Amino acid sequence: MTVDTTIRVQPLEAPKGSEIDFGAAISGINLEKLTDADFDLIRDTLFKNQVVLFKGQGHISPKAQFELTNRFDPEATSYGHGKTLDAKRSILHPDLKTIPHQPQVQVIGNGKIEEYEGLKNIQLRHPHHRTFHKTIIPDADDLDFTRFYRWHIDAALYGLAPPVVTTLLAVKVPAGRRQTLRYDDGTGEELDVPLGTTAFVSGYAMYDRLSEEDKAYVRGTKVEYAPHPYVWMSGAKSRPTGLGMESDNLEIALKDLPEIEEDKIQILPMCWRNPVTGKLAVQIHPSAVRKLHLADGTVIDDLKEVREIVYNIQRPAIAPQHVYAHDWEEGDLVLFHNRGTLHSVVGAFAEDEVRLFRQCNVAGSSFPEGPKDE
Ligand SMILES: [Fe+2]
Repeated sequence: MTVDTTIRVQPLEAPKGSEIDFGAAISGINLEKLTDADFDLIRDTLFKNQVVLFKGQGHISPKAQFELTNRFDPEATSYGHGKTLDAKRSILHPDLKTIPHQPQVQVIGNGKIEEYEGLKNIQLRHPHHRTFHKTIIPDADDLDFTRFYRWHIDAALYGLAPPVVTTLLAVKVPAGRRQTLRYDDGTGEELDVPLGTTAFVSGYAMYDRLSEEDKAYVRGTKVEYAPHPYVWMSGAKSRPTGLGMESDNLEIALKDLPEIEEDKIQILPMCWRNPVTGKLAVQIHPSAVRKLHLADGTVIDDLKEVREIVYNIQRPAIAPQHVYAHDWEEGDLVLFHNRGTLHSVVGAFAEDEVRLFRQCNVAGSSFPEGPKDE
């Protein structure tokens, strides 16, 4: 008997009407025993397609998941948010549990888990928009309708550099029902999504669709993030699209944040350059932005104005036809380019719908590169 060991790379299937131009699936690679040639192919596919799916990976160890993730940035070793999650007021605090024997890998999901990888009797809670958005879908509609919870890059944005990639492994996925995702921003836009999908958009597509004038603006502008951004934003509420915050002056005052080390505050390019293709992606974490530094030296520090500018750049790119909403099956491992995409948790689970995922990323050993000088 011969075993088919052919490695295949295929584009991800997009639903009818979709205009997505990213995403690929790789089959025929043993992730527990990666060769250098395997990794070269994965790396090349990832940087050209941004999201890479491997089916049937439920068996892989947290160690193998970490090693695949870490191979993109071997000098990086600490979890993407480092110890910043310890801050009790951080909005990220309740959503993650760390695997004791592989601390760069986090368990996320929904429901009660008796035992998993050394974690005992854990209660997982899928993030729900009611805890983060200013307006909410009424409880009576909650199982049928949902929203993007929070569009983001996986990044501490204070001290630590953004991870290059993130891996997500679906260990347990509740039987599939579908939900209608509403934008609730007056556009009437909706997206039919599988329960608990992870939504992705491409930062390259976001850049490519801008006008020439806007392209020049985003190439020349830098984004300053708030210190301790996830504590800072914890008093504020999100827009209904999950794409950044409402401006009601509810952010935690700087003087009330944990001690601020000025050299940890991040001012990053608005566009990040792809290490393989050289293309530019608009990469902005919309809920953590605080100031904009323009090419001519002007600093915009009016928060409402900063957010409007960023929203106008980003909002067209999350329109339904540009979103890839992954339909999770148990064993799916999704590797995504965290410096070339934005992603969002989606969905509202019932209390008894058990979902178990493993997530891994490591803070970058260096910062993303911006556009080359013109
Ligand atoms: Fe994330």
